[in-house]
Amino acid sequence: MSITTRAAICFELGTPWQIEEIELDPPKAGEVLARMGGSGLCHSDEHIVTGDLPWPLPMIGGHEGAAVIEEVGPGVMSVAPGDRVIFGFIPACGRCPSCSSGHQNLCDLGMYMGAGMQVSDHTARHHRNGQDLNLMCMLGTFAERTVTNEANCIKIGDDIPLDVACLLGCGVGTGWGAAVNTGEVAAGDTVVVVGVGGIGINAVQGAALAGAERILAIDPVEFKRQKALEFGATHTAADWDSGFDLLQELTWGRLANVVINTKGLGEGADIAAALRLAGKRGKVVVTNLHNAAEATVAMSALDLVLMEKQVRGSLFGSSNPRADIPRMLDLYRNGKLKLDELATHRYKLEEVNQGYDDMRAGRSLRGVITF
Ligand SMILES: NC(=O)c1ccc[n+]([C@@H]2O[C@H](COP(=O)([O-])OP(=O)(O)OC[C@H]3O[C@@H](n4cnc5c(N)ncnc54)[C@H](O)[C@@H]3O)[C@@H](O)[C@H]2O)c1
Ligand SMILES: [Zn+2]
Ligand SMILES: [Zn+2]
Repeated sequence: MSITTRAAICFELGTPWQIEEIELDPPKAGEVLARMGGSGLCHSDEHIVTGDLPWPLPMIGGHEGAAVIEEVGPGVMSVAPGDRVIFGFIPACGRCPSCSSGHQNLCDLGMYMGAGMQVSDHTARHHRNGQDLNLMCMLGTFAERTVTNEANCIKIGDDIPLDVACLLGCGVGTGWGAAVNTGEVAAGDTVVVVGVGGIGINAVQGAALAGAERILAIDPVEFKRQKALEFGATHTAADWDSGFDLLQELTWGRLANVVINTKGLGEGADIAAALRLAGKRGKVVVTNLHNAAEATVAMSALDLVLMEKQVRGSLFGSSNPRADIPRMLDLYRNGKLKLDELATHRYKLEEVNQGYDDMRAGRSLRGVITF
């Protein structure tokens, strides 16, 4: 029997999220029905609205969620009704070559991440007036209830509120891992984080925890620069150029070991700008999304060769959701990872557009929908 629930849906590019009643089918084999407890407002959902990420509409937004399992479909082994879970925004099957070689963020099932349907049989459980609805990252966490796959569920304990736990489903793992895993930040390093939003702020705290000596956070918004200092940055700048001048001075011209791009929307020219901040053997970590149609980036290839610089892409911070989400939870429990301070603004589901207004205006660090 289908049930009725409410969800925030993007029907057309450039239009606000619409809160609608929808019909939700029961979970099929390998799937779970979950009641959402918290959902973070990540910039990636904004890319659905702008079309920078050209995924199928209408789409239920949200991919940074934590929930309580209410029902499981046939064959589900790893979770049961009543379990509390964080959703990884990439499924981790545990069996494919990527999963079995320690790269769950690149699980083969991830190829369906933007397809909108259930990963099990490529059909929809979510409908409105007979029309199938797509799901952001096969999750659709901007909803009171959703159906998704067991492969996305990471079971957690009872000691952490779901509207805090949800942040680990995307923003924290992505930012923290961009520094710790992809950037391989080491003790004594100089790190630059460009763009201090929900992702960048976690790159700052990841770099700090990994022992970086200098962390320069670049963001045009003063509030963001202040927050960066609270999360472990040692210096801030308002733009690339003043950041470069400061970095020259701080490092006697040696520049950064790791530069992490996390501004809201990447542009081709940012790659050259980031490489300029990187020193010899410096790594540029590209975490932010660029428009899907962008095919050209600027960079000096000679500089790349002569200084052995590197450009690295980073998906969910090169983290393994099943290993790293519990690891980050422990860091939080031990007071080493800040989670409570990240969610500066909380909203009801029907306030999701206000949440994105606040994100765009730079008023929030991370907005969270509580249910
Ligand atoms: N690779 C992944 O796995 C992954 C996962 C989640 C999000 N993302 C992407 O990461 C990016 C950041 O997401 P978010 O949720 O942190 O966004 P956000 O909107 O919270 O933060 C973006 C920040 O960039 C800053 N900014 C804008 N223009 C800038 C400029 N010219 N120089 C410096 N800073 C500037 C903004 O002030 C803001 O603080 C997005 O593109 C998002 O889609 C990638
Ligand atoms: Zn995200
Ligand atoms: Zn896999």
